[in-house]
Amino acid sequence: MTKKFGNFTAVDDLTLSLRKDEIFCFLGHNGAGKTTSLNVLMGKTKPSTGTVKLRLLGNSSRVDDEDQGDTSKVFDIREDAQSAQSLMGTCSQHDILFETLSTEQHIYLFYKLKESLLDTGINHSQKSIGQRVDELVKTVQLEPHRHKESQHLSGGMRRRLSIALALVSPSESSIVILDEPTTGLDAMVREDVW
Ligand SMILES: Nc1ncnc2c1ncn2[C@@H]1O[C@H](COP(=O)(O)OP(=O)(O)OP(=O)(O)O)[C@@H](O)[C@H]1O
Ligand SMILES: [Mg+2]
Repeated sequence: MTKKFGNFTAVDDLTLSLRKDEIFCFLGHNGAGKTTSLNVLMGKTKPSTGTVKLRLLGNSSRVDDEDQGDTSKVFDIREDAQSAQSLMGTCSQHDILFETLSTEQHIYLFYKLKESLLDTGINHSQKSIGQRVDELVKTVQLEPHRHKESQHLSGGMRRRLSIALALVSPSESSIVILDEPTTGLDAMVREDVW
C-alpha cells in the first residue's frame, strides 16, 4: 500500500500480514507515516495504490486455509469499507467524542451502531448490552464518571473513553486499531492498557 498527498509520499509501499490474536505495533518518529498507515487500515482514507483486506474467519481458524470447505469471508476496504469497518474497533490519535453524551451513553451508542452495520455473519455476544456497557466502563476505570458528559471529563478520562469505544465489539473476531492510545494517560492506567 502506498499513500501520497499530492507529490509527497507519506507511506511508501507498505506490506503487512497480520494474523488472528497477533499484537502488532508501529514505531517511528513524528511524521514517519504511522497515523496515515492506520487511517488507511481503518478505511478513513483511501490508499493511492494497493488495498487492505480483512478475512472474517469461518469454520477454519487458519488465516491461510484455502480449503474448499472454508466459510471465511474477505472484505476489501476499497470496495466495501463499511463491512470491513464492522469488524474493527478504532481509536484515532485525537479523541472524537460527542461533548454532551455521557461515558455510558457513548458506549451504548457505539454498541448499537456496530450491531446495525451490515450483517457480516458475525456471532453476537450472548450478554445484554447493559452488561457489556458495565464491563467496558469497568475495564477503563470510568465507573465514578459514567454519567458525566464527555465535555466534563479530563483529558486522560476522554482518552480512556476513546479506548473503551475501540473495544466495543459485537463480535469475537474484531480487529482493534489504536493510534497512540496511552498519550496523556497517567502511569498506572497506561500500564493497565498495555
Ligand atoms: N492530509 C494530509 N495532507 C498532506 N500531508 C499529510 C496529510 N496527513 C499527513 N501528512 C503528512 O504525512 C506525513 C506522515 O504523517 P503522519 O501523521 O502519518 O505521521 P505519524 O507517524 O503519525 O506522526 P506522529 O508521531 O507525529 O503522530 C507527515 O509528513 C505529514 O505532514
Ligand atoms: Mg500519528
